[in-house]
Amino acid sequence: MSTALIPGSFDPVTYGHLDIIERTAHLFDDVLVAPMDNAAKATVFSLAERQDMLEDVTADLANVSIEAFKGLLVGFAVERGVSAIVKGLRAVSDFDYELQMAQLNYRLSGIETFFMPTTPQHSFLSSSLVREVARYGGDVSSMVPATVAQRLATRFAP
Ligand code: PNS
Repeated sequence: MSTALIPGSFDPVTYGHLDIIERTAHLFDDVLVAPMDNAAKATVFSLAERQDMLEDVTADLANVSIEAFKGLLVGFAVERGVSAIVKGLRAVSDFDYELQMAQLNYRLSGIETFFMPTTPQHSFLSSSLVREVARYGGDVSSMVPATVAQRLATRFAP
């Protein structure tokens, strides 16, 4: 039984994330998506809210489950017995940071990280840009599922 772990901040989940989750779900028996905290980022949505949004948008994917986790990624990965970590790469600018994390996580746990290129139509998308557009009342409906757009509108309501 192969299980892929897709960790991230998911603040909030975008169509770019969903694309990576769906494509990974075709390659592994199970996919565990884990909203976590990134020490370098303050989030707009709580861990529970990020988990809820992920559950909503992956409800139709039978082999995908969501579990929020606070702590070290590899501790969680070992505990859940995952086969590999999967991360999406949008552009070469993502690579340095992701490579460092992948190598550190391998040193700590022996768990491999696989990089999946984002579909070109989503390559400009990031949660931070989505938040910024939503904060100023812009239309994010092409970037995030409707349920997420609704939550952003409520969070940033004037
Ligand atoms: O979506 P992001 O912000 O790029 O995700 C980064 C995340 C949450 C996967 C990373 O910060 C992480 O693994 N956080 C958990 C704490 C941890 O293990 N830190 C060391 C990672 S090398």
